[in-house]
Amino acid sequence: MIKVRIPATTANMGPGFDTLGMALKLYNEIEVEEKCGETEIYNNGQRSQDDYRENLIYTSMIKTLSRFDYNYDGFYINVSRCDIPICRGLGSSAACIVGGVAAANALMGEVMSMDKIIEVATEIEGHPDNIVPAAVGGMVVSLQEGEKVSYSKVQLPHKLKFAAMIPNFQVSTAMSRGVLPKSYLKEDCVFNISRSAMLISALYNGEFDKLRTCFGDRIHQPYRKTLIKNAELILDKAREIGAIGEFISGSGSTLMAVVEPKDEERFEKEVKSFLSSFEDQWKVILLEPDMEGIKVGSY
Ligand code: HSE
Repeated sequence: MIKVRIPATTANMGPGFDTLGMALKLYNEIEVEEKCGETEIYNNGQRSQDDYRENLIYTSMIKTLSRFDYNYDGFYINVSRCDIPICRGLGSSAACIVGGVAAANALMGEVMSMDKIIEVATEIEGHPDNIVPAAVGGMVVSLQEGEKVSYSKVQLPHKLKFAAMIPNFQVSTAMSRGVLPKSYLKEDCVFNISRSAMLISALYNGEFDKLRTCFGDRIHQPYRKTLIKNAELILDKAREIGAIGEFISGSGSTLMAVVEPKDEERFEKEVKSFLSSFEDQWKVILLEPDMEGIKVGSY
């Protein structure tokens, strides 16, 4: 039996659309085994009634195995842990894809390098910013050059906490990509380039006072806020009660606040109290960066 643990991820991180992402200590785990006959999918031991051919873990495995002409019959796939909320901007799709590709690689006897796993998973997802940190952990800058994905880990010198504010509604990535414009003004591009670069540098130098402006963005968040009820109000409140940065996590619906450890308890208490006044059952989870990425074992 192959077991894969995959972390949640927060992508874009403000100005780094399709480029920046970070793994978080919140995990899914999948168990995979080859079997004769039709594939069976389980959620924590309960047989799923959904069509396995539409399951993202399964389709990611098949796409990977096919590249290597690996012959297979069926699979037993069990999602033994599912802590990453689905379609909430915390990398649930990337976790299925990276998990499926890594499980397929383990079935084939570890024939792929980490770079190859990332390349295949990025091709399936379409962009690398959730895939790469899910695979290698940490905060990562990623870019694509044709099929090839290059990435570089960002130095995170101080312990920062990431307060994920998660509503009970989903926002599909396809819909939230659909609301984005086809072109941008030069000054909006400069706005994002300057903030992305400053974000990396300020994190590296531990210059928290400069982070405040670094999460600004004119590429995706202004358009997506309309898809997340009360987003503007909640992000403003997070700032007012001491977050050092706030952004839409991935394509939403989760909103993320960056908090210094000394403010963590007070922030959590105040933001929970504020969110309880809205419908949509907002949950708050204080998360730390995951530095490990995927873990693959067999037993
Ligand atoms: N960079 C992606 C986006 C992340 O913002 O659409 C969500 O998959």
